[in-house]
Amino acid sequence: MAITEIPVMQDYIRMCGDGWDQGWHERNGGNLTYRMRPEEVEQCRPYFQAEPGPWVNMGVQADNLKGEYFIATGSGKYFRNVPLAPQDNVCILEINQAGDSWRIVWGLEKGGRPTSEFPSHFLNHSVRKKATAGENRVIYHAHPANLIALTYILPLTARDFTRALWKSATECPVVFPGGVGVVPWMVPGGAEIALATSKLMEEYDAAVWAHHGLFASGPDFDTTFGLMHTIEKAAQIYILALSAGQGKIRQTIQDEELRAIARDFGVTLREEFLDETPLAK
Ligand code: 13P
Ligand code: ZN
Repeated sequence: MAITEIPVMQDYIRMCGDGWDQGWHERNGGNLTYRMRPEEVEQCRPYFQAEPGPWVNMGVQADNLKGEYFIATGSGKYFRNVPLAPQDNVCILEINQAGDSWRIVWGLEKGGRPTSEFPSHFLNHSVRKKATAGENRVIYHAHPANLIALTYILPLTARDFTRALWKSATECPVVFPGGVGVVPWMVPGGAEIALATSKLMEEYDAAVWAHHGLFASGPDFDTTFGLMHTIEKAAQIYILALSAGQGKIRQTIQDEELRAIARDFGVTLREEFLDETPLAK
């Protein structure tokens, strides 16, 4: 038995390969973190290094993540290589009792450190864990081309992005009824963008990074991958429709129709993103 045969590791590795297959991870683009369940930590513990790496301060802190363990992609590592050599491209991190530092307990065997976006992942985990009463476990950052393209043509507001995406495919309002947040362009990889993103993640389970990519969150790999996939596909449809129609959208889903979907599928849409109901004649 190898650590890579443990189901949680297999699921994590599969998701990295799936993201590569979708074309969302050019070079070292994107990163994936998973907050492990205690029983998964115990399954993996026999494979941990005899000597863990040194504690490294993150520049961000979270009380509700003290002592947690995360699986994380390595900084500068390529998603396409994760299924081939997980031990060199992925690591397991332990968080200290102050909730402000990590150390590597497994992986990155040829050297390296966790993703440069770990501060963003960490704060997003903290706020999503709180917002979902502990359900949320996955934070996923990718560079899907169509969504990034939209950040050049739509106003950079949550309302504009959410409405465009909701109306681009009928099931979108069911998959992300809360909409998507939008972070303006910022320098990636630090505490500042981490704080701005996590502020939005208090309300949204996905946040667009202008001219950069998307952060998606969820309770498991399938849901989180599915959210990324659904948002990117909606962006692709919107771009296709705009391109084929030379910028003219002849017809789209009306706000009343969004309300009808929400009613029948039992979801609550973020009401402030819908236009007012026209007065009955
Ligand atoms: P890392 O290689 O450090 O994970 O960075 C990739 C990325 O997408 C930065 O936003
Ligand atoms: Zn990125």
